[in-house]
Amino acid sequence: MIKINENFLKLQASYLFSNIAKRVNAYQSANPDQEIIRLGIGDVTRALPQACISAFHTAIDEMAGDATFRGYGPEQGYDFLREKIAQHDFRNRGADVADDEIFVSDGAKCDTGNIQEIFATDIRVAIPDPVYPVYLDTNVMAGRTGTYDNGRYQGVTYLDCNRDNDYVPQLPSEPVDLIYLCFPNNPTGATIAHDQLKAWIDYARANKALILYDAAYEAFVRDNDLPRSIYEVEGAREVAIEFRSFSKTAGFTGTRCAYTVVPKTCTAYTASGDPIEVYDLWNRRHTTKFNSVSYPVQRAAEAVYSTEGQAQVKELTDYYLANAAYIRKAVQSLGFDCVGGENSPYIWIDGQRDSWEFFDLLLNESGVVCTPGAGFGRCGEGYIRISAFNSFENVQKAMDRIQTALG
Ligand code: MLT
Repeated sequence: MIKINENFLKLQASYLFSNIAKRVNAYQSANPDQEIIRLGIGDVTRALPQACISAFHTAIDEMAGDATFRGYGPEQGYDFLREKIAQHDFRNRGADVADDEIFVSDGAKCDTGNIQEIFATDIRVAIPDPVYPVYLDTNVMAGRTGTYDNGRYQGVTYLDCNRDNDYVPQLPSEPVDLIYLCFPNNPTGATIAHDQLKAWIDYARANKALILYDAAYEAFVRDNDLPRSIYEVEGAREVAIEFRSFSKTAGFTGTRCAYTVVPKTCTAYTASGDPIEVYDLWNRRHTTKFNSVSYPVQRAAEAVYSTEGQAQVKELTDYYLANAAYIRKAVQSLGFDCVGGENSPYIWIDGQRDSWEFFDLLLNESGVVCTPGAGFGRCGEGYIRISAFNSFENVQKAMDRIQTALG
């Protein structure tokens, strides 16, 4: 008899963004004439930078000729891209990352979801609340949690993020082995300072723990005092893996390209305490299960690092940041308290009511889609997240409609 992985039965009915999409589709069917403005899932709306498009075209043309055609590439990504990433995103900022510590992939969602596979199932996992649901759900699937009870899984150390700690989690009061951090944060938009990150690194070093640092939104950081990579902070190379993405940086949500940095100095342990290089495990997993990203996509990603590419990406992220500033001002003028929207494309709003009720209200009364905070964890109850990824015209229209609905 074929048996299932019963850990899947512990999961909530459906993935947050699928659940929202279902509700929005039902609303659209019932209201076919209503124009819906989507400020829910963080999906970019503007075209790829011209530098990426040109590189894409050139690479496609190469694929059209036998002499320049490429078949399988290296599983970890082509050297031309790994070198640019390590130089521009890290070494130019004083962070010590080698070219071959970069693993190119098709998304930070996949990497942050897959990485837990290389660790034991009986480790203690610390996960922020609210949180990007992928970190939690993949640990549930792997059997690292107990059942879901009163909005939380047994066996997980939740790191509460709320107004009292400026949405930056405090160190846990019990020992943990694997720590998920994300800054600029999804969903709150909060940022972390060097000294706060240093405290986590020191904790991980002292406890033989490992930090999984999701920096998918670093391109939105404008405050030069904030770290853009965990490797800008001393000691991180021993205890941190970092995830990055071209999705929000350069509009690659549909094109798919991201990368993970696994320093060769990161260690995890066997049950008997022998140190093992995490790099070797991830490399083994990656080469077995993944054949990297297509050649044209990697060439398009490489173009992000050209002079024109850098200027175009800056223009793109500035555009979304202007939307974020507009949203922030509009919700504050309605009397709501919020965080994020500066150095981040997300605005986290205290809606002062049940977050699904607020989601329904905005959808039904204004045709605007947001993300209910409760979908990101118990600490998200009462909040909604608004994303700045849309045209400025739509953002203005959405805020006008919300003003009318709530006014
Ligand atoms: C989000 O809206 O939280 C993100 O777009 C989801 C993702 O990147 O997978």
